[in-house]
Amino acid sequence: MHLSLRQLKLFEAVARHLSFTRAAEEIHLTQPAVSIQIKQLESNIGLPLFEQIGKRIFLTDVGQELYDVCGEMLEVLARFEMSVADHKGLKQGRLRLAVTTTAKYFVPRLLGPFCQRHPGIEVSLKVSNRERMLERLAGNQDDLYIFGQPPKHLAVRSRPFLENRLVPLASPDHPLAGESRVPLQRLVEEPFLMRELGSGTRMATEQFFRDRGVSVQVRMELGSNEAIKQAVMGRLGVAVLSQNAVMLESAMGQVAILDVEGFPLPRHWYLVYPAEKKLSVVAQAFYDYLEQIAPAGAARMAP
Ligand code: PGA
Repeated sequence: MHLSLRQLKLFEAVARHLSFTRAAEEIHLTQPAVSIQIKQLESNIGLPLFEQIGKRIFLTDVGQELYDVCGEMLEVLARFEMSVADHKGLKQGRLRLAVTTTAKYFVPRLLGPFCQRHPGIEVSLKVSNRERMLERLAGNQDDLYIFGQPPKHLAVRSRPFLENRLVPLASPDHPLAGESRVPLQRLVEEPFLMRELGSGTRMATEQFFRDRGVSVQVRMELGSNEAIKQAVMGRLGVAVLSQNAVMLESAMGQVAILDVEGFPLPRHWYLVYPAEKKLSVVAQAFYDYLEQIAPAGAARMAP
C-alpha cells in the first residue's frame, strides 16, 4: 500500500472538517485537487473512505479507522518535530500562531522584533474568526492562540496580555459624531452593521446589549472588520469594533469613535493554549516575550 504523508495530511483535514471545500481552503489547494488526491488514496487502499448522503459527506468505517491512525501519527510526528526543535534551542524551529481576525491588526507588529531576535525561526500565522479558531484549538493544530475571550468549554491555559477595547463607530458626519455622553438608547436607534456569526467581536457586542436589556436593529451582516469600516464610511450604519481595528481610520478622520454611555467595552487579548499541551522551546519563548513587551507594544500601536 502506497500512502504518502501528504495524502494522509489531506485526508485528515477533509475528515476533520467533513468538507472538501474547507479542507482545500485550509491547505491552500483547489477543491478538485483535494478530491483527486482522496480518490487516489481510496484506490491505493482499495476501499472508499467517504460516502456522500445528500449534500453531506460521512466517513466510512475504514475512513474512521484511518482518521484515528492519522491522529496518532500526526501527534507522534509533532512530538518528534518538537523534540528536534528543542534540541536546536531557539536557533531553528517553527512557531505556529493562530489569531482571531481582529488580532491581525497588531500581532504582525509584535512578531517583528521577535523574528529579528531569532532569525532562524519560521513563523506561520493563521488568521480566522473565533469559531474557526475554536475548531483549530480543539484539533491541537497550532502552538499558541490569541483570542478576545478564552474559550469556556475547552480545557485551556490563558493569560491576558493586552487591552482590547470595543468602541462604537459612525461616519464623521453622523449626527452622533462629536456628541458627548450619548445615551445607549440613542445609539441603538441607529441601524447596526454586525460582524458575521462566529465572530468574537459580535459575541461580546451582543452580550453587552443583552446585559443592558436593549436590542439593536441589524441592517447588515458583514464578514470582516474591513467590510464594516467601509460600510460605516459609506454611511450605511453604526458598528462596534475593536479599537485595534480602527486606529488608522480614526486617526485619518475617516470614521468617528462615538462617546456612548457604557463604552468602550473593556476587554483583553488572551494568549491561549490547550491545558495539556507542553509548549515547545520556541512557543514558550514567544509566550514569555509577549509578557515582557506587550505593554510597550500596545503603546506603540498608535499609527
Ligand atoms: P473576531 O474575534 O475577529 O472573531 O471578532 C475578536 C475577538 O474575539 O474579540
